[in-house]
Amino acid sequence: MVLVDYRGEVTISGAKNAAVAILPATLLVNGKCHLENVPDISDIRAIIKILKSLGSKVEYISDHELIIDNTGVNITTAPYDLTCKFRASYYLLGALIGKFGSAQISLPGGCNLGARPIDQHIKAFESLGATIGVKRGNVYASAPKDGLNATSIFLDVVSVGATINAILAATLAKGTSTIENCAKEPHVVDVANFLNSVGANIKGAGTDVIKVTGVKELNQNSSYAVIPDQIEAGTFMVAAAITKGNVLIKNCIPKHMEPITAKLQEAGAEVIEFEDTIRVSMDDTPRPINIKTMPYPGFPTDMQPQICTLIAMSKGTGMIIESIWDSRFQYTDELIKMGADITAHGRTAMVKGVDKLYGSPVGAHDLRAGAAMILAGLVAHGRTEIYDIYHIERGYENIVEKFKNLGAKIEFYRDPEACVKESGVSC
Ligand code: EPU
Repeated sequence: MVLVDYRGEVTISGAKNAAVAILPATLLVNGKCHLENVPDISDIRAIIKILKSLGSKVEYISDHELIIDNTGVNITTAPYDLTCKFRASYYLLGALIGKFGSAQISLPGGCNLGARPIDQHIKAFESLGATIGVKRGNVYASAPKDGLNATSIFLDVVSVGATINAILAATLAKGTSTIENCAKEPHVVDVANFLNSVGANIKGAGTDVIKVTGVKELNQNSSYAVIPDQIEAGTFMVAAAITKGNVLIKNCIPKHMEPITAKLQEAGAEVIEFEDTIRVSMDDTPRPINIKTMPYPGFPTDMQPQICTLIAMSKGTGMIIESIWDSRFQYTDELIKMGADITAHGRTAMVKGVDKLYGSPVGAHDLRAGAAMILAGLVAHGRTEIYDIYHIERGYENIVEKFKNLGAKIEFYRDPEACVKESGVSC
């Protein structure tokens, strides 16, 4: 990839981490659900395959708009081969036990970020009265005959997945559940908004205490649009800054971008916010910045590899502390191949800015690591080849075309192995 003239505008797609929860959440609804702004990415195609295997009918009205009819769902065991590698398949547990009283999925596979336990999901389900068993790689869940009962749940760690799963399971339970120490990410709020739009009674999403008063049933009456993807928008913001470009990022929610905006401004970028658009420009070499990843509204871990690439090109030394995942610095070896000066140890990385990066063959260790390789490739001298791009396709819609439209020289070579692995690994 070679940078030509990196400026223009880009439109952000729907949020992966909201959509991968909202699609399973439709299982709770009687009748059809009409969804808009659904991203066209391989993770969504994987969820749709799983829903269809349970008996759902899914009809695409356009590339990003679909109707899901779950009235025919008569199976609560999701196929092992589809769920074992797909992390977000854990949302099927909450939705299926909430609606049908039983669920079986494979243990969601860990991906390249270190240990990914689901003890807090299980704790939430058990508090609501479910019986959970974990055996030979499968998780089995069943509700009492008369359904789940509301309760108080205190999550020991702030977990996006456990918060959403507790909401899903409590939505049709009897009584009012209180979930404390909740994750406040925009996608948690979006799932709650979707459920409220079909008749749920969920209050407090976006704060650390959420109250869910169980309702008898959910009925879809109008369509629901998934929020824009915070991390895709953040990735293009960093792209504008690292290339000293000037990019208008359309279809984003500036409020969601604040932790990223603040750090880019500290690095010297100009960030101008409009209603649903952000313009990012940068003239100088970035100043070094320090980052500590935190649950929302802190700096998102899913932007850590991308911002590391920016610091790697800065005038000075920055430090990154990763406080969410045990093992999210593996990609730094790939940046080092390109000439970056990074010392990563445990959850800390010291990043010394260099004048130049050099194109080389690199791997996309995971979705966000892959995005960081693209950013590095944009500014590197010479040609960068990125392997294992199926990771990137899991969460970034049409990324090659989007960068091309901004002036990047980037081509997509589809290798047969990547096709086989498509939708195979999850984050
Ligand atoms: N944790 C536990 N027990 C649990 C659940 C989580 O100890 O039962 C710990 C985790 O080990 C981690 C922390 O809690 O240290 C936070 O994990 P969380 O549950 O919030 O992560 P997740 O729901 O599995 C989602 C995103 C990730 C993102 C994290 C953190 C989805 C499908 N995935 O994962 O997204 O990094 O939240 O924001 O929503 C990505 O999109 O690239 C990605 C990895």
